[in-house]
Amino acid sequence: MKTLEGKVALITGGNSGIGKATAKLFAEQGAQVIITARRQDVLDRAVADIGFGAFGIRGDVGDLDHHRALAAQISKEFGAVDIYMANAGVIDLKPSDAITEEIYDQHFRINTKGVFFGVQAISPIMNNGGSIIITSSLAATKVLPNHTAYAGSKAAAAAFAKNWAIEFKDRRIRVNILSPGPTDTEILGKLGITEDQRGPFLEHMANTIPAGRLATSDELASAALFLASDAGRYVNGIELNVDGGMSLI
Ligand SMILES: NC(=O)c1ccc[n+]([C@@H]2O[C@H](COP(=O)([O-])OP(=O)(O)OC[C@H]3O[C@@H](n4cnc5c(N)ncnc54)[C@H](OP(=O)(O)O)[C@@H]3O)[C@@H](O)[C@H]2O)c1
Repeated sequence: MKTLEGKVALITGGNSGIGKATAKLFAEQGAQVIITARRQDVLDRAVADIGFGAFGIRGDVGDLDHHRALAAQISKEFGAVDIYMANAGVIDLKPSDAITEEIYDQHFRINTKGVFFGVQAISPIMNNGGSIIITSSLAATKVLPNHTAYAGSKAAAAAFAKNWAIEFKDRRIRVNILSPGPTDTEILGKLGITEDQRGPFLEHMANTIPAGRLATSDELASAALFLASDAGRYVNGIELNVDGGMSLI
């Protein structure tokens, strides 16, 4: 029997990178997967790539009405959710004196508010014994250059997760944090740095990681599967760094 047979999994930011790789793995493991993101064309392509009856719903996690409508639609069409992965996120690397109010708000609207109100809307339609995974970042616990605003937005989301692990005790819903180190996804093209800066930045990152390279999306997906599945059934409230050992240096 497949690991996630009969489960319904909802993944935000599921049309790209870590979210898409996780959606594909969960679908291969038998789950009915629902992915969300803003770009409809990319969402459509991802649904086709994932296969296994994956379903895409367009929406912006910073919009509370989107979460409410999503909960209503999923409850009507799929009944209930077993696995919710709040994964959508953005990053704009800048020193604090270059962070405008707009950049600050964008981080906290998507990476923090999006997670909070996503869980608020989706948890009522989750089955007891379900699993919530919050994609945070190694940057939430490790100081990295020019990550201040992003780090704050991700650290807040990680703090929510630990509180929820207790709040959902009576429903036996586990809540864990998946903290990727640098991972080779589309986000590396949206770091808010120039092309000239990107190469040396990524090379420096790869050289400092004990693994000697960035992670792949599939490696993050494997860790998400552990947290989502029965293999991780006694794991609750942890921050799982999937970072090739970068947190040690
Ligand atoms: N890659 C890394 O090095 C790394 C390291 C640490 C943490 N992370 C975290 O991992 C998560 C996934 O990132 P990734 O690396 O897979 O990057 P990615 O390929 O750029 O994926 C980001 C996803 O978020 C979606 N998204 C962004 N803003 C959204 C919004 N307002 N509403 C709904 N969806 C939104 C994007 O789709 P649309 O643009 O179509 O909406 C996309 O599906 C993020 O939370 C990121 O912060 C990544």
